[in-house]
Amino acid sequence: MLRQVLLNPGPVTLSDGVRAALTRGDWCHREPEFAELMQSINRRLAYVYSDAADDFEAATLTGSGTSAVEGMLQSFAPCDAKTLVVSNGVYGERMAAMLKVQGKPFMSTEGEWLKAIDLNKVTALLDANPDITTVVTVHHETTTGRLNNLNELGGLCKTRGLDLLLDAVSSFGAERIGFDEWNVAAVAATANKCLHAVPALSFVLARKSVWSRESQACSVYLDLVNYHKAQHASGFSPFTPSVQPAFALDVALDELQQHGGWERRGASYRSRAARIAETLDGLGVKTLLPREEYSAVLWTWLLPEGWSYERLHDVLKAEGIVIYAGQGDLASSVFRIAHMGDIDGDIEHVCDILKRCFA
Ligand SMILES: Cc1ncc(COP(=O)(O)O)c(C=O)c1O
Repeated sequence: MLRQVLLNPGPVTLSDGVRAALTRGDWCHREPEFAELMQSINRRLAYVYSDAADDFEAATLTGSGTSAVEGMLQSFAPCDAKTLVVSNGVYGERMAAMLKVQGKPFMSTEGEWLKAIDLNKVTALLDANPDITTVVTVHHETTTGRLNNLNELGGLCKTRGLDLLLDAVSSFGAERIGFDEWNVAAVAATANKCLHAVPALSFVLARKSVWSRESQACSVYLDLVNYHKAQHASGFSPFTPSVQPAFALDVALDELQQHGGWERRGASYRSRAARIAETLDGLGVKTLLPREEYSAVLWTWLLPEGWSYERLHDVLKAEGIVIYAGQGDLASSVFRIAHMGDIDGDIEHVCDILKRCFA
């Protein structure tokens, strides 16, 4: 099969080392070597950000990013106090849907997808609802590519002593997280986006003091306090973890460290974004959002006149390049390009093909 350059927001194009790790061996998840690996992975996940290393611990679970987000809300969103969901895209709205099915008290800002977080609205809701103790939001809203300004929202959480539960599924490993200055209580993320491993494992980093609270979960499988207890005591998980993806994550974490950590990874995504933007600018293709509002990880572009998403997708796919559609009302007007994965050697090819399409 033709090499696929994955410009969708995960899973990513793997490095040879991560791909090879998948065949490390047939291990039993109840043997000490796997327990040791799990504990090492959890330790290293907490060290991806040096700011988190002292005060946060990880629990890893088998499931996609959504399972980590849902597990975080299950375990830490309170049953007897209100949570405020600050949303401006699909993933914020999904967290409100999770709290609804969990039967927990919450309110949502229901922000517009194309707009930044409205801090005045958040402040007014907090003033009017003193029973809100927890704020949940999305760091990088992959719906549009917006990197939400958490210096403002997180600053408010810090000043008011509110727990911030963060969906960092598409930013962990490439964008700055202000663990202390944003009053982060927990962060949910996944192996197969900015960390460059494979789908199957996701994780939550939470403050040690938050792990020691009573679990708020009304689920057996998604009670992460239980995972944390078991994994930190023995290295074993309450349920069968995905073994080979753990090998891949182990190597992906080595590679992240060898390549200079999250800051260097973010910088490399920004330089890929800049090269692609230079090409698309030259072809008259416009961005959906003002470019200073984008993350390093993904940008959304408006489909040029005369192009449907399906046609563009198929032309690029025939050249081994996979892009991503817009969601909801954006489905027929945009395409998304993510900058993750082992694709340094592919960017010029991508630019050449884009030029051939739109020239
Ligand atoms: C910000 C964000 N949250 C949650 C998810 C859900 O992750 P998954 O599809 O791995 O369940 C995604 C997926 O792209 C995401 O970008």
